[in-house]
Amino acid sequence: MRMSGCGLLWIGRALVLLQLFDGVLGWGKEGHYAICKMAEGYLTEDALAAVKELLPDSAEGDLANVCSWPDEIRHNFHWRWTSPLHYVDTPDFKCNYEYCRDCHDSGGHKDRCVTGAINNYTMQLKSFYQDSVSEAKYNLTEALLFLSHFIGDVHQPLHVGFTGDEGGNTITVRWFRRKTNLHHVWDNMIIESALKTFYGSDIAVMIKAIQRNFTDGWSNDTSSWEYCKYNKTVCPDPYASESISLACKFAYRNATPGTTLGDDYFLSRLPIVEKRLAQGGIRLAATLNPPGTRAWSKEGHIMTCRIAQSLLESEAAHAVENLLPDYANGDLSALCVWPDQVRHWYRYRWTSSLHFIDTPDEACTFEFSRDCHDSHGVKDMCIVGAIQNFTSQLLHYREGTSDRRHNMTEALLFLSHFLGDVHQPMHVGFTSDEGGNTIELLLYCTIHRLASKLNEISPESRPKGNNLIVTEVWDREIILTALKDYYDKDMELLLNDIAANFTDGIWYDDVSSWKDCNNLHTCPNKYATESINIACKWGYKGVKAGETLADDYFNSRMPIVMKRIAQGGVRLAMILNRIFGDSDEGLATAT
Ligand SMILES: *[C@@H]1O[C@H](CO)[C@@H](O)[C@H](O)[C@H]1NC(C)=O
Ligand SMILES: *[C@@H]1O[C@H](CO)[C@@H](O)[C@H](O)[C@H]1NC(C)=O
Ligand SMILES: *[C@@H]1O[C@H](CO)[C@@H](O)[C@H](O)[C@H]1NC(C)=O
Ligand SMILES: *[C@@H]1O[C@H](CO)[C@@H](O)[C@H](O)[C@H]1NC(C)=O
Ligand SMILES: *[C@@H]1O[C@H](CO)[C@@H](O)[C@H](O)[C@H]1NC(C)=O
Ligand SMILES: *[C@@H]1O[C@H](CO)[C@@H](O)[C@H](O)[C@H]1NC(C)=O
Ligand SMILES: *[C@@H]1O[C@H](CO)[C@@H](O)[C@H](O)[C@H]1NC(C)=O
Ligand SMILES: *[C@@H]1O[C@H](CO)[C@@H](O)[C@H](O)[C@H]1NC(C)=O
Repeated sequence: MRMSGCGLLWIGRALVLLQLFDGVLGWGKEGHYAICKMAEGYLTEDALAAVKELLPDSAEGDLANVCSWPDEIRHNFHWRWTSPLHYVDTPDFKCNYEYCRDCHDSGGHKDRCVTGAINNYTMQLKSFYQDSVSEAKYNLTEALLFLSHFIGDVHQPLHVGFTGDEGGNTITVRWFRRKTNLHHVWDNMIIESALKTFYGSDIAVMIKAIQRNFTDGWSNDTSSWEYCKYNKTVCPDPYASESISLACKFAYRNATPGTTLGDDYFLSRLPIVEKRLAQGGIRLAATLNPPGTRAWSKEGHIMTCRIAQSLLESEAAHAVENLLPDYANGDLSALCVWPDQVRHWYRYRWTSSLHFIDTPDEACTFEFSRDCHDSHGVKDMCIVGAIQNFTSQLLHYREGTSDRRHNMTEALLFLSHFLGDVHQPMHVGFTSDEGGNTIELLLYCTIHRLASKLNEISPESRPKGNNLIVTEVWDREIILTALKDYYDKDMELLLNDIAANFTDGIWYDDVSSWKDCNNLHTCPNKYATESINIACKWGYKGVKAGETLADDYFNSRMPIVMKRIAQGGVRLAMILNRIFGDSDEGLATAT
């Protein structure tokens, strides 16, 4: 529905009318509900936690319950400006869409259309994963609801319809016996008729039927639905192009003004509608999911912790078992990725900077006093500071359980995790010109986009892009490729191989030097220094902008990654044995 500015009175009357004829809304309530429900099923744990944190109470923990909110408010005076954000008009009978030509409101204001809004709210939501400064700028609850709704809308073919008929709104037709307009048919009627005819009037049944196709009929397509060119977080333009194309091929066809639409139209168009709902759901999830984890991949942390736990002496083994929550079943590795999972939760946001250290570009050294701080300059907020912190906290364990200042379980999980991180060479990398959190931030938001754009961006900023790509490769790709190529994707086999190499293989002679540590408090400095050295020697080296990292790179780096995992495990065991062991060594040296 277009509402050109005509004064308050007109709006008041329009409001009343609109409440009577809900045909002007986006996909009807059911459509948006279905899209958001399907998306929720595809969210990662991280993304789901973030979504839940942002949801208003009225959602009762379920995004799908509030996905129609932008339709409910759009005609309130306060929200009137959002009205043009639900659709985009394209030139009559052209059957194509171009952002620069089409994305504006009726007053010609640029970016004020559904695709512009999707870009806008995606950008805002990304700030959720960044620092608190940008967080204050936007209402991220609203951003989430708008984004979820508009990704739905852009998939409704007639939300990318012709200007002349207002996306089918002015084309009066009959839906079976009922008088309505073509836009409303696509928003509501097809779905409503399908619910009644095929799904026992139960939206949950319809959703299940559509979802069944994710594994059957569309299984070959779903990854291409998610695919965004240049690895952007979201790409609404191709979705809009698909929509106008479907509008011409299916929605407008055989639906001229005055037509009665019946079974033929219904049965041939329903599959299109169902597929668009599915695509909306998959793509909303893909937009909300962070692409890949930061830090050692899950596998890296799990292996580090497995190795460590297998090397624990009885006191330490006992203490660890005591501290683990029941559901871990005594397995430390089951919770070693926990700090990665919670780092974006509001309660744990302070831990975010503890996952890495930025050292000066090209310096290839680490100095605690110079480098260990967060992006605001707060001291000790880096991996090494965190290891010291949680080591000190755990040392109180022996004083009995009376000390309630710290949660010992969390201290154990953090220590175990950060000992893994400090051994990941690229987590002790160069500071980029954007300061502190950039690595993390860019990893989440732009690594993939940067990767593909390396050839287009200025030479000065290239090294930064490089670091990021390389970080991702070191975090995940090398380990995953090794698992796939040599170990049949079986982590146990890889672990056995690593263990064999330090119990009596190539690393046997080195293990005692790995464990060397006079002072639990200062040893982590050594681990960070090793990491930045390796980062300089192996991580950044031989990588040119825009190049694909070849087998060469992989083959020469894999042994280093494996060795760092082994070292992390051996050293974590050493530290835990000292903390919980019965000698006074740990206590004497760590405070
Ligand atoms: C982007 O979002 C802000 C905050 O909701 C809003 O004021 C602005 O008009 C939006 N712009 C577009 C193009 O959606
Ligand atoms: C964010 O927006 C929601 C919905 O409009 C509102 O209920 C909430 O109070 C807003 N939060 C802040 C911090 O303004
Ligand atoms: C499932 O996919 C098939 C093949 O594309 C299609 O004909 C059918 O309508 C789909 N079913 C649902 C419920 O979407
Ligand atoms: C998916 O692709 C594979 C390999 O190309 C093919 O064998 C299979 O039949 C396809 N499945 C569907 C449902 O189209
Ligand atoms: C140490 O841990 C406490 C919470 O247990 C936290 O408040 C503090 O910021 C941590 N400091 C560092 C450097 O990790
Ligand atoms: C300690 O932290 C864990 C993990 O967050 C939590 O499950 C547990 O309830 C906490 N224990 C106490 C005593 O607060
Ligand atoms: C996008 O990211 C994927 C996964 O990391 C990668 O395989 C692909 O090569 C990237 N594509 C481009 C164009 O950068
Ligand atoms: C273990 O050592 C052998 C050489 O003796 C090497 O080929 C293999 O890659 C090593 N395995 C791991 C996981 O590091």
